[in-house]
Amino acid sequence: MTATLINGKAFAADLRARIATGVAAMTARGITPGLAVVLVGEDPASQVYVRSKGRMTREVGMNSFEHRLPAETPQADLLALIDRLNADPSVNGILVQLPLPRHMDESAVINAIYPDKDVDGFHILNVGRLATGQKAMVPCTPLGCLMLLRDHLGDLGGKNALVIGRSNIVGKPMAQLLLRDSATVTVAHSRTKNLPELCRQADIIVAAVGRARFVQGDWIKPGATVIDVGINRTDDGLVGDVDFDAASQTAGAITPVPGGVGPMTIACLLANTLTATARVN
Ligand code: GUN
Repeated sequence: MTATLINGKAFAADLRARIATGVAAMTARGITPGLAVVLVGEDPASQVYVRSKGRMTREVGMNSFEHRLPAETPQADLLALIDRLNADPSVNGILVQLPLPRHMDESAVINAIYPDKDVDGFHILNVGRLATGQKAMVPCTPLGCLMLLRDHLGDLGGKNALVIGRSNIVGKPMAQLLLRDSATVTVAHSRTKNLPELCRQADIIVAAVGRARFVQGDWIKPGATVIDVGINRTDDGLVGDVDFDAASQTAGAITPVPGGVGPMTIACLLANTLTATARVN
């Protein structure tokens, strides 16, 4: 192994400690930030995420409000709950855990959240703000990736960055953030024809495809920085979208799975909640 390990777990712990200091200062002024998390249905992975979001929210001193609704809840009832949370001054951030049950219109639900309480950064107004360089709530996973990249590389200006994946949650906002930092950005996806060659030109690779060990070691440019967003359950346990053992022979730096990007997502959710609270108080 020659690559430097990018320790997202330690970075996230440090970020949470700084957030806790900010929360304590606000609480001393009589305002405690509050995050509401809404889970519809019993998806096992979502239940795990929601539980750890609640625990970490409380650990930094924020109020955590959990709302669990049955899978068959009518969409109108979910929208009514969002209206109540929008109007509640003790709730500064609202997160509706995705995916939603099939009978619900995900866009309609997300866009019902008051944009300045949209700590996921998924509301169409925040997507537009980010794309046009305005102050926006930024999606947590790509924000966490950006923090790790800036911490490791400093200025990203002029770097060749390849984002693999074009989801609304990771790929597209990641590309916007890298562009905002003046990187030269390429977005690859399932129909991309020359992925190994594109990888070999990239100073930065962000892999968010959801396929175990998809990115091969011999695709990596020597010295490149590799950010692995994947969390894939396999017979060998959790693995990323990058073949870590092979890639770490060539990369300059790489995030491990677990312990890389994963812990950054919740830390950035808490950072967004603190920002949302500061904006209105
Ligand atoms: N499901 C998977 N990732 C996320 C996320 O970042 N936010 C929400 N709301 N749901 C998710």
